Amino acid sequence: MSAEPFGRLDHRSELRETLLPLCRLQPGEVWHDSKHGHKVGVLDAAKREDVQKIFGEEQAVLSVQDPPYNVTAGAENTENLFRWNLKDYMEWSEKWVENNLRIMTPDAGLYVWLGADQRDHFQPLPDFMVMMRRFPELVSRSFITMRNQRGYGTQKNWMAVRQECLYYVKGSPAFNVNAEYTEIPRILRGYYKEVHGQKMENPERSRSENIRAGNVWVDIQQVFYRMQENVPGCYAQKPLKSIERILQASSREGDLVADFFAHAGTTLLAGEILRRRVFTFDIDPVFAELTIRRLEHHRQTGKTGFQWETPFPEIV
Ligand SMILES: C[S@@+](CC[C@H](N)C(=O)[O-])C[C@H]1O[C@@H](n2cnc3c(N)ncnc32)[C@H](O)[C@@H]1O
Repeated sequence: MSAEPFGRLDHRSELRETLLPLCRLQPGEVWHDSKHGHKVGVLDAAKREDVQKIFGEEQAVLSVQDPPYNVTAGAENTENLFRWNLKDYMEWSEKWVENNLRIMTPDAGLYVWLGADQRDHFQPLPDFMVMMRRFPELVSRSFITMRNQRGYGTQKNWMAVRQECLYYVKGSPAFNVNAEYTEIPRILRGYYKEVHGQKMENPERSRSENIRAGNVWVDIQQVFYRMQENVPGCYAQKPLKSIERILQASSREGDLVADFFAHAGTTLLAGEILRRRVFTFDIDPVFAELTIRRLEHHRQTGKTGFQWETPFPEIV
């Protein structure tokens, strides 16, 4: 098998079949990391008993969730192209959110990445937002937009370059504002205020030489195959920097972080680097395997991904 182009695993069902026997976990199984206490499972986010299986009595101070978006834009060639009707998608979403609430500590943060299909009344984003009102213990905090460098579009429409992330809290979790500073230098000084008739720079605004990320993130590079962090085969990998930013803002060293949709294992790797424990799982054994292999590869080489090399060297 050539490593690059490895292709998207959702485009290549025959590749998935080849990889399945190489996966160490069967559905329902959980891998325990003896080094730093992470866990990775092949489990279903919508099944209460599956979530219970990996969490037991433990609860997380932070959940970073990146479910399938039910949006097909940009994936027209997907072999197993599949979209739920919105009602089923929302019922499913409500189930995993319920399961997520059970494993959140009384003071915890929840980040949900979600898409909006501009060709179909922007579903499921607004439906999801309204559905979340059914959980009175969750309070909405912010609506983050991350800018992609590459987009999809036509000559007749605006290029679609945005990714949305909703931030909710349960209780009152800590928030580390310093995590919010980007590497972009400030051009303008802070705003000015008058003190005893003199114009002074507002000290609250001038502490850092860099700008705050705010809730529109324009400084994060989208993952593509030439980047070290790329995990071949993954079609929905989030940039490591975006997940690290969330972990740094909404958790501390030693905290437990949850991710029910592991895919390329980005949350697990961010947790490993930032010394948080992560319990994560994917319904697909191939993505659970990729998640574990990415962690092992990082421990062996210090690299954040495989770039264009294959994560499955046993298949040539
Ligand atoms: C958008 S991707 C997550 C991307 C991830 N944040 C990353 O950076 O790699 C969604 C993942 O959810 C998984 N998935 C779909 N339905 C699931 C379910 N019911 N339970 C757990 N995982 C599921 C898919 O296999 C896919 O890998």
